[in-house]
Amino acid sequence: MTALLEVRHATRRFAGLVAVHDVSFTLEAGEILGLIGPNGAGKTTLISLVSGTLAPSEGEVLFQGETITKIPAYRRARLGIGRTFQIMRPFPGLSVLDNVAVGALFGRGGGQPKLAMAREQARACLDFVGLGRFVDQRADELGGPGRKRLELAKALAMQPKVLLCDEVMAGLNHVEIEEVIDVIRKVRDQGISVLVIEHVIKAIKSLSDRLLVLHHGEKIADGVPAEVLENATVVEAYLGKRRT
Ligand SMILES: Nc1ncnc2c1ncn2[C@@H]1O[C@H](COP(=O)(O)OP(=O)(O)O)[C@@H](O)[C@H]1O
Ligand SMILES: [Mg+2]
Repeated sequence: MTALLEVRHATRRFAGLVAVHDVSFTLEAGEILGLIGPNGAGKTTLISLVSGTLAPSEGEVLFQGETITKIPAYRRARLGIGRTFQIMRPFPGLSVLDNVAVGALFGRGGGQPKLAMAREQARACLDFVGLGRFVDQRADELGGPGRKRLELAKALAMQPKVLLCDEVMAGLNHVEIEEVIDVIRKVRDQGISVLVIEHVIKAIKSLSDRLLVLHHGEKIADGVPAEVLENATVVEAYLGKRRT
């Protein structure tokens, strides 16, 4: 069976620095794939290669069995690749509703061309992520946790087949993390495959079907979460020392 998404031998260099080195992985339909690794490991760079925000120096990205390596980001979004950004960039002067309506206007299949319909779609996504009460506020009036949810709602309004989440739980408290975990599970239950970058190990362990670990741009583990987290190389990468 063809994977929904496949990255083959992807490398990305920035001047002298190799941010991602020869990384291959697949994301299957209906799967939640966790992606972890220390700061600077190349996680954000890797999902940027998938969303098209960055081009790989080498390697290929395939979606539904076809190469998309040369396809620009806005067209990948139309194909069904949605993402959130670690550095959140809401349109500050627009309402929460219209921030998400923008996602609906430019989403899968060319999006929802009518503004009124896009707003309807946006409202449903905001309810889905628990921001229904804030639709009329300006986006810059939302606090950190609200902005994380706004990122999710924007990406969901594009009606993606694959959702790439870059640290949507960072800075949240335990209760908020549990709520976001529930949202991501509901997303998967709608048939959307999810790739989640996350630092909170407990959260990623309970959420992921499979776990991928990056370290210095290289994939050092890929497998069942409980086993991967016991892996000596992974423990060493996180603790920065060899276990005795
Ligand atoms: N646009 C860029 N230009 C130069 N270096 C970058 C750029 N983006 C990321 N890097 C570098 O690539 C490495 C991986 O970064 P990143 O993918 O953001 O890691 P992570 O998300 O795992 O923390 C880091 O050393 C970072 O400084
Ligand atoms: Mg990052």
